[in-house]
Amino acid sequence: MAPTRRLTGFKPTGHLHLGNLLGALRPLIAAQDHTESIAMIADLHAMTMDHEPGRLRALALEQATVLLAAGVDPARTPIILQSQVAEHTELHYLLECATGFGEASRMIQFKEKSAAGGPIRLSLLTYPVLMAADILLHDIDEVPVGEDQNQHLELTRTIANRFNARYGPTFRVPEGVRPESAARIMDLADPAVKMGKSNAAGAGRIALLDPPEVIRRTVARAVTDELAQVRRHPDQPGVTNLVGILAECTGQQPSDPVSYGALKREVTDAIESVVAPIRARHAELADDPAHVREILAKGAEAVRPRARATVRRTRAALGLLQ
Ligand code: ADP
Ligand code: TRP
Repeated sequence: MAPTRRLTGFKPTGHLHLGNLLGALRPLIAAQDHTESIAMIADLHAMTMDHEPGRLRALALEQATVLLAAGVDPARTPIILQSQVAEHTELHYLLECATGFGEASRMIQFKEKSAAGGPIRLSLLTYPVLMAADILLHDIDEVPVGEDQNQHLELTRTIANRFNARYGPTFRVPEGVRPESAARIMDLADPAVKMGKSNAAGAGRIALLDPPEVIRRTVARAVTDELAQVRRHPDQPGVTNLVGILAECTGQQPSDPVSYGALKREVTDAIESVVAPIRARHAELADDPAHVREILAKGAEAVRPRARATVRRTRAALGLLQ
């Protein structure tokens, strides 16, 4: 049987953080042995909200470098920049002709982001159609998605099924999968929200390239409570999150730290032991950005034949002259 094909996407809107590592990167790295994975940096999706060109360029390269530093093996897992495989945008347009305006405007993420005020880019509305193109282009079987992307994945399935029924079998219909480690890392300053690239001040976020001192300070300031009990409990979201991070980083249930101070010291050490090798490898790789760009070019080359075949099939199904 052919190995399962997976696509994991990262949006270069900020620095990759501990949540991305434990929730997405580690599962991707662990699955390299038994899946045919693609790691994609969704730089086109990063332009659906106001963006700075210089920052986008820097973050795209940084994320690619961090992926390599963390252990994504480009010989087994092509690392691609979405914008460098032009078939993504070609398929995007073709799929726009198979998607309803109502469907797109009902997406929760579109509603939330467009309600935030300010000018709204048309690409924010069509965001999920581009995501469908990313997935369908590469004949993907499985897409690891967090809750916030579930609805987009469902729309992808709807578009694929409808297209296949109307124009003949063209697309493989993907499944959404929850990452193996159910880790959902919460913000250390506000454990009610998940750690994210764009959380307001970033006071509770551990970026993978943070220096040790910053990590120590961020953990030291993590919100806990007055209960003085180190345990996972719904009444103690901050402590629960710290214990969860400790377990994820050490791969073991924590030995009972006696105080919050002791817990935070253990968490700091555990995070440091996970990110230190990534930081070191990143520093080496960042010295030679041409090498990283070469890896991206090779990744694009590796996925292009299949992407071309999908676009050809789609054009033919839609009645475009070959
Ligand atoms: P962010 O929400 O920080 O912008 P992305 O949306 O680019 O991150 O997500 C990239 C991947 O990282 C997704 O697979 C997502 O599920 C995972 N991820 C993001 N934040 C967390 C978190 N706090 N805990 C666990 N996994 C996360
Ligand atoms: N929209 C995804 C996110 O915000 C990123 C993404 C773009 C993606 N294209 C994808 C994820 C294709 C999985 C598959 O996280």
